[in-house]
Amino acid sequence: MSWVKEDVVSFFQLFCIKVVKTGRVPQHIAFIMDGNRRYAKKHNEKTAAGHSKGFDKLSETLKWCLDLGIPEVTVYAFSIENFKRSEEEVSALMDLARDKFQRLIDEIDQINELGVRMHIAGRLSLLPEDLRKMVSQAMLATRYNNKLRLNIAYAYTGRDEISRAASLIVDGVKNNELLSDDIDDELVSHTLELGEPELLVRTSGEVRLSDFMLWQVSNSVLYFTDVLWPEFTIWNLLAAIIHFQRHAPPIKDEEPISDSKLQFLEKLEDRRWRDLEKLVNC
Ligand code: FPP
Ligand code: MG
Repeated sequence: MSWVKEDVVSFFQLFCIKVVKTGRVPQHIAFIMDGNRRYAKKHNEKTAAGHSKGFDKLSETLKWCLDLGIPEVTVYAFSIENFKRSEEEVSALMDLARDKFQRLIDEIDQINELGVRMHIAGRLSLLPEDLRKMVSQAMLATRYNNKLRLNIAYAYTGRDEISRAASLIVDGVKNNELLSDDIDDELVSHTLELGEPELLVRTSGEVRLSDFMLWQVSNSVLYFTDVLWPEFTIWNLLAAIIHFQRHAPPIKDEEPISDSKLQFLEKLEDRRWRDLEKLVNC
């Protein structure tokens, strides 16, 4: 299956996964999948081939995460800044996404069997209409799965996500769904599309956040590795998790959220699903 690679874990790797699982495993892991173009250059391949290898690595990584019992994975697949790359590269990335989301729709029974729920986070209005429809369809079709939530940050930046949340909150106050006293960091956190990762991994030797999940990583363990994303291995992932186990902060209990905030958030969620249904049916 294209999104979750099968038969990639050997007996010895499974044994190592079991050993790592005796310690604390991050419940949400985020990846900045960097280094695809350098990989392509190193192997005398076209840039598009580097991104395609990057997707294959994502599908391997998802299998490892499922085996590790990690319930949430977020990946930075296309930043709003990436629209500034050459027309040829942007169009190759859009075509790759079209191909992979079409496959997802074709393989929906297998995805549902594995329990993968897809969320595409970002300013979807920036995407070509056909792709926007496809990603909406993927979200709707996997809506009730609960084994692994895969968030794909696409046409995304952290600052843009925070601006969109701020605008939703302003509308909430204007429509009397919220009081201005309700506005606090808890409300902003819940209004954002993405939750807080316990571990953030960036490949390729860059040690920046590049406008990824800026609000959410305030308490995350960060792990940077020199390996290029298409060359990332299960050993790199296990090393990142061992790094997390050495540096993780204590687990905090979630405070219950007030009724007025909860009602606002439930309305937002309903509206999001209705908008997706409209998009798919129009
Ligand atoms: C960063 O490497 C990678 C990207 C901008 C694209 C990542 C996309 C994928 C791995 C495919 C995901 C596809 C779907 C449909 C989810 P880079 O281009 O910045 O490489 P460089 O750092 O070597 O220049
Ligand atoms: Mg890069």
